[in-house]
Amino acid sequence: MSATPEILDVGGLSVDYVLPTGDVRAVDDVSFTVDRGEFLGIVGESGCGKSTLLFAVAQLLAPPARIAAGSIRFKGTNLVGLTDTQLSAIRWRDMSVVMQSAMNALNPVMSIGAQFSDALRAHGKPSKQEIAARSAEVLRMVGIDPVHLKSYPHQLSGGMRQRSMIAMAMLFTPDLIIMDEPTSALDVVAQRALMAQIKDLQQAYGFAVIFVTHDMSLISHFSDRLMVMYAGQVDELGSTREIFDRPRHPYTQGLLEAFPSIRGPRVPLKGIPGNPPDLARLPAGCRFRPRCPLAVERCAQVAPDLYQVDAALVRCLRVGDASMSERADEHRSLTQ
Ligand SMILES: Nc1ncnc2c1ncn2[C@@H]1O[C@H](COP(=O)(O)OP(=O)(O)O)[C@@H](O)[C@H]1O
Ligand SMILES: [Mg+2]
Repeated sequence: MSATPEILDVGGLSVDYVLPTGDVRAVDDVSFTVDRGEFLGIVGESGCGKSTLLFAVAQLLAPPARIAAGSIRFKGTNLVGLTDTQLSAIRWRDMSVVMQSAMNALNPVMSIGAQFSDALRAHGKPSKQEIAARSAEVLRMVGIDPVHLKSYPHQLSGGMRQRSMIAMAMLFTPDLIIMDEPTSALDVVAQRALMAQIKDLQQAYGFAVIFVTHDMSLISHFSDRLMVMYAGQVDELGSTREIFDRPRHPYTQGLLEAFPSIRGPRVPLKGIPGNPPDLARLPAGCRFRPRCPLAVERCAQVAPDLYQVDAALVRCLRVGDASMSERADEHRSLTQ
């Protein structure tokens, strides 16, 4: 085990989809760390590479996707290049995953209890009593009566199926749980309730969480740090508080304007028309430039690096301009 506070250290990670029409880079040179017990939120519109990044971190990528570069250090071990056998020793026990299609990830012909039991048996030789006790315990953790261990997935509501998946992810009290929009199929009230529950469990058990969503308001109350992805890259990375107080990237500002208040209705991205670019046909210069209300001439020519601004990282050529600083300050009043 490493002595560093990071449980996860992703360095220079790039993932390509190898297609007949050419390689498409869906994750482009992404680096970040997650500390023990930390909650990292990842946001960005659909198609920005969030799921591909999580699949890569969990080493669940399948062709045509492949890791083109970079490292994924989990508790000091680089997962890139490990065999399936080596990975299966880590998966579920140390790191577990709740994916976007969580509701359909349960086996329809097995009871919840049988699926938990299979997962537990895959990592040791627990007794029947141990299996029953742990299975009931994790179901209770997510607010489901253990009588449902006998239930089949179709007998549960959508919300209960998602809760069951989260319970399954906690069978071994892993150090890291990776969640890809696990609440997306729920209504807003149920989403908030499930989020609050995940946060309580995280505080009680101390596991780290990477949580992907396209919902800025959902993440604002729960994550310690926030990573904003655009067109396969990190556009902004910093503490959630800091980013909500002072969003510096025009894309982050646009995302925040789309959620003016945690209670208010969702509105279309104000001032940010259009969609993220096709990754096979990226614009020259800044990838956000075609939609950016603040773009200047050099933005069409120069691809911005990630610049350190105070405690945050921001991928914008104009981030040092005085007018940009004022705009970030304006958002402070807008989001409060
Ligand atoms: N199975 C696939 N085959 C080819 N390209 C894919 C596939 N899945 C995703 N991509 C490419 O990767 C990009 C990012 O997808 P994804 O990681 O699912 O984004 P997000 O989760 O942010 O919506 C897509 O816009 C697309 O270009
Ligand atoms: Mg996705």
